[in-house]
Amino acid sequence: MVKRSKETKEADKLVLNSHVAKENVVHSKVAKTAEVGSGEVKEIRRIGVLTSGGDAPGMNGVIRAVTRAAAAHGIEVMGVRRGFHGLWRGDIIELKPRDVSDILQRGGTTLMTARSKTFMTEEGVSKAMSMADVFGLDALICVGGDGTGRGALDLAAAGLPVVLVPATIDNDMAGTDETIGFDTAMNTVISAVDKIRDSASSHERCSVVEVMGRNAGFLAFQVGVATGAEVVLIPEIDCDFDQDVVKKLLSARNRGKQHFIIIVAEGVRLDPDFHAAVKAAPAIAIAEEVEAKTGIETNATILGYVQRGGNPSLRDRYLSSMMGIEAVETLLAGRANRLIASLRGQIVDIDLSEALAMKKEITEEAFKRAGILSL
Ligand code: F6P
Repeated sequence: MVKRSKETKEADKLVLNSHVAKENVVHSKVAKTAEVGSGEVKEIRRIGVLTSGGDAPGMNGVIRAVTRAAAAHGIEVMGVRRGFHGLWRGDIIELKPRDVSDILQRGGTTLMTARSKTFMTEEGVSKAMSMADVFGLDALICVGGDGTGRGALDLAAAGLPVVLVPATIDNDMAGTDETIGFDTAMNTVISAVDKIRDSASSHERCSVVEVMGRNAGFLAFQVGVATGAEVVLIPEIDCDFDQDVVKKLLSARNRGKQHFIIIVAEGVRLDPDFHAAVKAAPAIAIAEEVEAKTGIETNATILGYVQRGGNPSLRDRYLSSMMGIEAVETLLAGRANRLIASLRGQIVDIDLSEALAMKKEITEEAFKRAGILSL
């Protein structure tokens, strides 16, 4: 039986639209974030752009779109290399439209990225602000996930107008239906799982495939549906291992199924006595337990960083291009401290601190609905 997680129960308010809720996510308000700057934007002559946190396919499309959209509006662009780490170190270069040729189709980020610990301190933020001043940045477009958003808000609080373009393969940002990189990562994972299934079916085995997502199961959930996985385990939905995994596999075997795919999100949480092993190596611990309890030969595959690379899909090239333009035009329209979001197929801008205070969830309804497909 699936149960709603504690966090899900505590999420107090559905703040966005019913369209989103009917699909597989909801955006719920859970916390308040820090006060940010006024959100007023003075005249913009020069903007900075940086990519931060985990790289995601499509980040290059944003760099290209920001550079070219800004040029079209007569604004200068400076590329900040290595994320916030590069900002406080002044690792900043000029970007002209020709500098961003031939990068739309490339994975990773040509500006490079980092997870900066120094930036997270008061001193780091103040160094970053003085570098923004040295290089004459009137505003900063940050490309990344929720950690990048929190870094951007720190700068906003110190007075630098910011816009966040959401890019993470995890798709775990509330306020936007999709993040740049998610679509490519899903396509990478389904092609890997299709290959694994060929082998599982030839040997009549069960294969456990671990996918990324940190504490979120969006990647695992959609990939599970798209590959016809027999079992999907995600952090958002509690699982009774004997009922939801062991019994399900044995019942399927007794109905004549001869091979099985289990998709596991890396952040999955299971029973306390089993959890330590699962936390250390989810796919391996689950594969061992499945084999011990069902007698079905079971192997484990950890897909790892292959999920972050590769040429962006059409969707990610389109999304990154349109979001990059929207980020520049949002600043030019005088709005700051905003998240560029994809909502019901529209690219819009919404308040960044409100978006970061919300939690995106997978509904139990969607999870249950998908479960009937593996009968
Ligand atoms: O946020 C993207 C992501 O790939 C997560 O899915 C994963 O848990 C994490 O980054 C890995 O981070 P790092 O690149 O620091 O190993």
